[in-house]
Amino acid sequence: MSINIEEFYSVLASRMKASTIRETLKIIQRSNVISLAGGMPDPATFPAKEINQVTQQILAKNSACALQYSSTEGLPELRELILNWFSEDNKKLGLDNIVITSGSQQGLDLMSKVLLNPGDIVIVELPSYLAALNAFRSYGGEMKGISMDNEGVEVDILEETLTQLKKEGQKVKFIYTISNFQNSAGVTMSLPRRKRVLEIAQKFEVFILEDNPYDKLRFEGEPLPSIYSLDNEGYVISLGTFSKILCPGLRLAWVLGDKKIIEKIVIMKQATDLCTTILNQLIVYEYCRQNDIDKNIESNIKIYRKKRDVMLKALSKYFPSEASWTKPEGGFFVFVTLPEYIDVDVMFPEAIEEGVAYVSGSAFFANGKGKNTMRLSFCYPKEEDIEEGIKRLGKVIKKRIKN
Ligand SMILES: Cc1ncc(COP(=O)(O)O)c(C=O)c1O
Repeated sequence: MSINIEEFYSVLASRMKASTIRETLKIIQRSNVISLAGGMPDPATFPAKEINQVTQQILAKNSACALQYSSTEGLPELRELILNWFSEDNKKLGLDNIVITSGSQQGLDLMSKVLLNPGDIVIVELPSYLAALNAFRSYGGEMKGISMDNEGVEVDILEETLTQLKKEGQKVKFIYTISNFQNSAGVTMSLPRRKRVLEIAQKFEVFILEDNPYDKLRFEGEPLPSIYSLDNEGYVISLGTFSKILCPGLRLAWVLGDKKIIEKIVIMKQATDLCTTILNQLIVYEYCRQNDIDKNIESNIKIYRKKRDVMLKALSKYFPSEASWTKPEGGFFVFVTLPEYIDVDVMFPEAIEEGVAYVSGSAFFANGKGKNTMRLSFCYPKEEDIEEGIKRLGKVIKKRIKN
């Protein structure tokens, strides 16, 4: 008799289900479908030649270190370099305020590991980033969703919710926010909202986990200070990553925060992977030392801005007037809202039949709502495919519009 594997799963493993997005992406990769679903960067933005050059130099000169174990905190020179990038935040940050992680996804996992007990509440935006929700859920976190408008999370509702949860004796551990060009809504939190969210967090004594992967991918408008930079009391923990501004394959990211929190993350990370790969840290460090990463980001912004414009123009041209969508000032995503009576999960097979894919918005709503919404990514497909994909999708949607 073969072993009954399911009987052996931990509570944590039993709780986790395959991500609908990852499953969708598998279907799409097998067919001739234009995918507006995944959030992968455009490979044209990867500085492959320069990365190849520095990798060869490192392996020729420094292989003893590059192929060795390394410190859990991460390469000091790289941490220093990242901190200098944040100098405009006007904060005295030291090496004990930063740890390098294997992608921001590991940062999300480690923060959950450090802060969450089963049943603890995490406040999330509606919609939010699915893989973050899954990380919180895997440690038993219970999501409480707060709606957003075009300035970000609705602060009055946030305050009311925290008041109510306190009355009920529920333990809220942190507010999770993607303050810039949010994944999935494409919305950026306004400065007054950032200040208010921080005030509320301080009043109710809960952490803010500010996830900021798209921060430097601003196409227009003035950059806003991060919530992290507004905080002087250690309430905010900030996640940053090289995934969207350099390449995701090196899996390099960082967590910034109060040194006590960083210390705890380092201890937890030791049990997870001992250290982030040092070869990749040296590659990114040398890449940044020998090249101007900001200049590279500038040229990448041009690529993404053009793609965003193609998508917004195509949406106006091909989508019915009953649909509305966000107009992101940066990042990778546009969020579409259709009339309430359209269920985009039910519509999905038809869209695939027509040769276009999207991610159903309900995947991003911690409260199970959003069945009439979808996330569209403009980052990966070619410009002509974006236009054609939106045209196909418009056709599918129009068939469902009631007169
Ligand atoms: C909001 C958000 N957080 C975290 C991540 C994960 O980034 P990384 O590649 O650094 O793990 C992503 C990737 O899409 C993201 O959109």
